Amino acid sequence: MSRISIVGTGYVGLVTGACLASLGHDVTCVDVDVERVDAIRRGVVPFHEPGLDQLVASTVSRNLHATSSLEDAVAATDVTFVAVGTPSRPDGTINLDQVRAAVKEVGGTLGRTGKSHIVVIKSTVVPGSTERTVIPAIEEASGRSVGNELAVVVNPEFLTEGTAIEDFLHPDRIVVGSTDKEAARRVADLFEVDESVPVLITSSGTAEMIKYASNTLLATLISFSNQIADLGSAMGDIDAAEVMSGVRLSRYLTRGGETASIGSFLEAGCGFGGSCLPKDTAALTAEGARHGVEVGLLRSVLEINTDRPARLLELVLEAQPDLSKSKVAVLGLAFKPDTDDVRESPAFPLVSRLLEAGAEVITHDPVVGAESIPVELRHQVKHLKDLSEVAAIADVLVIVTRWAEYLKIPELIAYREEAPLVVDGRRMLDPKAVPNYRGIGLPRRHG
Ligand code: UGA
Repeated sequence: MSRISIVGTGYVGLVTGACLASLGHDVTCVDVDVERVDAIRRGVVPFHEPGLDQLVASTVSRNLHATSSLEDAVAATDVTFVAVGTPSRPDGTINLDQVRAAVKEVGGTLGRTGKSHIVVIKSTVVPGSTERTVIPAIEEASGRSVGNELAVVVNPEFLTEGTAIEDFLHPDRIVVGSTDKEAARRVADLFEVDESVPVLITSSGTAEMIKYASNTLLATLISFSNQIADLGSAMGDIDAAEVMSGVRLSRYLTRGGETASIGSFLEAGCGFGGSCLPKDTAALTAEGARHGVEVGLLRSVLEINTDRPARLLELVLEAQPDLSKSKVAVLGLAFKPDTDDVRESPAFPLVSRLLEAGAEVITHDPVVGAESIPVELRHQVKHLKDLSEVAAIADVLVIVTRWAEYLKIPELIAYREEAPLVVDGRRMLDPKAVPNYRGIGLPRRHG
């Protein structure tokens, strides 16, 4: 059992804290947001992640604590995970202010206690940040030098929203980067994983890059699929969904009837959103510029993705060129199903474009409420909770998020005299299941 503090109780911090507590460690979560600390103490999780509320509720009375005093937490523990935000700047680079502030405060405390401690950088930081920014900040604030009973290690997280607890408890790999190999090993041991789980101990820069390379690979596959889909639609009788089913059968992706899960990143559609893939691809692209390295591939990956809402609008306009008298429903605001996270969701740029085209816009999401719609759009749309109501009044239905509920659309519109246009941005429906269907990556003759 180790005594661990976690600085930052956002998605990564709270999942990490609750899971480490479930393994028996004594964990203290720290956040400057007092309301959040109070909520955690009451066992309330401030965001939607399947299973997390039960895990927090069951550990909070035992070995999961929450406080707004970083100093108390760090002084009473042996390992501190830093899991604060690293938001994007407009030029794509990441802002390290929260990391810098957190490690300075951790360093200050460690300077006063003089105790042996490991600082773990869990936040996603661009390669080189730990060497260049984190270590000097800790050394300056503590008056101690790293290596002398004070270790700094990088431990990127590979959680996927929606399956975060399972991903944490049964990871595909543990990556720990540091010059202090013993400290790196101690951090890897905290996760108590099965022997079959590969543990990679690397330099801090390599560990940071493994995280970015993993996410940009996924982003690249998605943009690749979207480009193939658009090209196929323009070229003729080519269905992108069938193309990718064929590609997935390659022995590189399918063995003994089992498809590797990376095959699920070959779905053409509205593109990638969320807090990771867009931000990480933008940050690595910006690093290319900073280091004078041409990263045209990454730049294209982003450009193709930014263009997806325009591509969806094109599909709508191909079938219905004048939207000025149309009620257009945007189905799905979450960046993917089973989450209430709307960060970088393609739904909002699509809403803006539809409004510009003169449409009356209705939004729907099974989980996301109107309060998550950006203020500049919120008052220009009608947000409805009931899908059957939306299906009854919309002239056009555009599927943006692959929520299972949208499989009911054919049934919900079956009774309507004049069938609405259905634009399927995720290729969820059988094109023949509704009379008036358009889908990403379908040959144009289906329109
Ligand atoms: C992603 C990675 O999948 C995780 O491995 C990583 O740990 C995490 O980022 C992170 O850095 O924290 P996440 O952002 O939760 O996880 O979401 P994904 O499930 O990867 O989905 C990303 C987006 O890609 C979604 O908007 C989804 O709709 C889109 N997508 C996915 C496609 O457009 N096409 C596809 O074929 C697959």
